Amino acid sequence: MDQPADTTPPTAPMTPIDIDADAVPEPAWVEQQRSAEVTPAPTPAGVPNQHAPVIPPIQADPVEADALEAAPIEQAEPGEEADDGAEVPSTPTLPTLGPLPAPPSTRQIALINQKGGVGKTTTTVNLGAALAASGLRVLMIDLDPQAHLTLSLGLDPETLDLSIYDLLIESDVSAAQVVRTVDGCERLGVLPADTNLAGIESELAEQVKTGLAQTLLRNKCAELIEQFDYVLIDCPPSLGLLTINGLTCAQEIVVPMQAHFLALQGMGKLFETINMIRQGINPALTVSGVVLCMHEANTILASDVVADVEGFFEEAKGTALPWADAVVYQPPIRRNIKLAEAPSFGQSVLTYASDSNGAKDYARLAKSVATATA
Ligand SMILES: Nc1ncnc2c1ncn2[C@@H]1O[C@H](COP(=O)(O)OP(=O)(O)OP(=O)(O)O)[C@@H](O)[C@H]1O
Ligand SMILES: [Mg+2]
Repeated sequence: MDQPADTTPPTAPMTPIDIDADAVPEPAWVEQQRSAEVTPAPTPAGVPNQHAPVIPPIQADPVEADALEAAPIEQAEPGEEADDGAEVPSTPTLPTLGPLPAPPSTRQIALINQKGGVGKTTTTVNLGAALAASGLRVLMIDLDPQAHLTLSLGLDPETLDLSIYDLLIESDVSAAQVVRTVDGCERLGVLPADTNLAGIESELAEQVKTGLAQTLLRNKCAELIEQFDYVLIDCPPSLGLLTINGLTCAQEIVVPMQAHFLALQGMGKLFETINMIRQGINPALTVSGVVLCMHEANTILASDVVADVEGFFEEAKGTALPWADAVVYQPPIRRNIKLAEAPSFGQSVLTYASDSNGAKDYARLAKSVATATA
């Protein structure tokens, strides 16, 4: 079982934080964000002020993802009560994991599955946090009108000055104006969403006809993206214009999936769409792999579905198909109640419950993803 959350008040941190400011260069985009002529919105109660400069916390003992002991599978169900009312620290701090290699150029990954509720947003938030905890610069992009990624990172979509909606709709809004620092780590940036995104397809109808609307994200983010090691794009559960923008901006696709009955049913349509984008707007697009979410390894059904996915990728080996080199990433992400609780505190599981199975699984996944092509 997980340990209870850290109840130490922020004024008396358990681990002394020893920061050498010179050793932690400020990313260029943070400076651009500060100098952008944007008036900060009033901070809503309970939502941290994202404009406040935050110095990346450094812990004394980095943790190697592999050194984390595999804990037994937890069977907690979503909706289970939060742990014994334990207080969550008001200033989240990202733990320091063992360093991972930076890619030679930015890896742009779209997390996509048109099936809803399979773990896309949870994987974006926690894979992003784990990569940042390993010393990498990560930009997360919320392309979902539900704005779950934005909410999961402690931002209130209702009070944003600017969101990805403004970026895509207004020609004079730049990505540097929209990007926000995630509380607790300056290496983590987010382009947040708001619910206006739901209407963007009809608002951009004219530009869809000319083909301009499909490449808006790629064109408007090109300069900002260069300043990060990883860009993770959280796509909505559909194959509409927003997802097409994600697929056009990305070079790689990661498919979060639950190994359930019918899990593979929607994959055909998804892979058809990927093929279409590759043949048209984005020839560089490939499928890197599948992340198994909320995984119950001890069921026959899950093992059968995983075997089917592996067989599907195996058949494509050596072909020109976009998933010819795809893998089922290790480890699968176990069902873990801390992963379901963390978003309501506006935190990743790495800051909310750093010793939970959820944090351990995503730390290991970050290592698998970062070393797959490094
Ligand atoms: N490993 C896990 N253990 C427990 N709960 C999880 C896990 N992964 C995700 N969840 C929970 O499952 C629900 C769906 O996850 P998530 O929002 O990440 O899916 P999604 O694919 O982004 O959904 P949507 O298609 O609506 O965007 C959320 O309540 C989330 O907290
Ligand atoms: Mg989501």
